[in-house]
Amino acid sequence: MSLSQGDRSQVAIIDDQPANLRLLMNVLESHNYDVRAFPKGTLALEGMKYALPDLILLDIQMPEMNGYQVCEHLKSNPETQDIPVLFISALDEAFDKVQAFEKGGVDYITKPFQAEEVLARVATHLNLSRLTRQLSNTNVAQAEQLATQNQQLQNTVQLLESSIQEVQQTQTQLVQQEKMAALGGLVAGIAHEINNPLNFIIGNLQPAQDYVQDLLNLIDLYQQTFPTPGEEIEAESDSMDLGFIRQDLPKLLQSMKIGAERIRNISRSLRIFGRGDSDTATQFDLHEVIESTILILKHRLKPSDHRSEIKIQTQYDSQLPEIEGFPGEFSQVVMNILANAIDAIDEKCESPGLLTEQAYRPQIRVITSLVAQKIATIKIQDNAGGMPPEVESRIFESGFTTKGMGKGTGLGMAIAQQLITEKHNGLLTCHSVIGEGTTFTIEIGLP
Ligand SMILES: Nc1ncnc2c1ncn2[C@@H]1O[C@H](COP(=O)(O)OP(=O)(O)OP(=O)(O)O)[C@@H](O)[C@H]1O
Ligand SMILES: [Mg+2]
Repeated sequence: MSLSQGDRSQVAIIDDQPANLRLLMNVLESHNYDVRAFPKGTLALEGMKYALPDLILLDIQMPEMNGYQVCEHLKSNPETQDIPVLFISALDEAFDKVQAFEKGGVDYITKPFQAEEVLARVATHLNLSRLTRQLSNTNVAQAEQLATQNQQLQNTVQLLESSIQEVQQTQTQLVQQEKMAALGGLVAGIAHEINNPLNFIIGNLQPAQDYVQDLLNLIDLYQQTFPTPGEEIEAESDSMDLGFIRQDLPKLLQSMKIGAERIRNISRSLRIFGRGDSDTATQFDLHEVIESTILILKHRLKPSDHRSEIKIQTQYDSQLPEIEGFPGEFSQVVMNILANAIDAIDEKCESPGLLTEQAYRPQIRVITSLVAQKIATIKIQDNAGGMPPEVESRIFESGFTTKGMGKGTGLGMAIAQQLITEKHNGLLTCHSVIGEGTTFTIEIGLP
């Protein structure tokens, strides 16, 4: 409902005396006011439901409802409470100025009045009311503007905070990648250094075995030709337990050979793992990389106070051809997935609830397969009990970890996914079944 119609101000006059009404109407109308006259308070309140005046001139002494009561009604209604009310009272009427202001009047005029005074007071209060309205509108507009600015500021702060977080994450990721590259270089370097002396050992073991066999054969021949070699030789032969040495020496050399082969495998694994910083893709045997990664992690599979040995079951598809990519980085991916599975198994076994689950056998399965001659898939499956959906949905987020301070950086899976998607054009996905376990699937297109 508008306060005024057109440019002319609307004034309502409420007075039970027709002579007064007429007089005031004449004065105001002759000065371009739009005037509505009401002989009773009730009529005026009813009339204001349809059109609101800009100002009200209100008589006090009226039958049915006096001016104070009318004013109370006006002030209790949010629609009319801001309309300025000027009381009019005859000098001989009992008029309580204090009450007039208490009821919400802004001014009063005493009868008999002078036209100029009425006009001056009406004009002043209309002005005041207009200014008050303008001010409150300005306040509202300013408040709204401030609120918008505040919101914009908050958005900017949020944006900044997330940018800072992103920068920090990228930084830790870079540091992590650099560390991996440095570690890779170191590991590859050590593996290379071990390789040279190892090659002497492996290269010399076979001739050593042959020589020993020759010498033993010669001793046999001596013994057959000279069954009684004399006291001195017999005593020496007894004290060194020649019979035992004869049997044990070939076994000893054989176990040295096996040990040296193992070192060679470890060294090869380390070289594959360390080849993380190469720039060009190469063809490589997926199964060899998986095996060497398992070998590097072997020490973590051993039985502990809380659990039996973690068994790794592999099921390799022999049809799988070599894939193109970066064996060092691929090994890091497998290593991260396996390390997480071992962590999850350890966590499960260290939780107090497991005491009842004596039959629990920790296990990780690695299954490779060739799909439609076009895709190599590697599934790494654990039986560590899985993770809740709110964890599963965030595991590839950089920096997301559920492990304690100093235990996990939350970068493992983020980096693994990056290495698979960006360096191998592949996919790394995760599917977890709570209470059972988690399966990571790597899919890589074949050349
Ligand atoms: N096999 C799994 N079973 C249960 N939870 C897992 C498994 N793999 C990953 N998670 C969850 O995903 C989170 C993120 O793994 P991610 O490897 O990225 O970081 P992290 O292992 O916590 O730390 P980091 O690998 O950097 O040392 C882990 O903290 C863990 O909660
Ligand atoms: Mg991890």
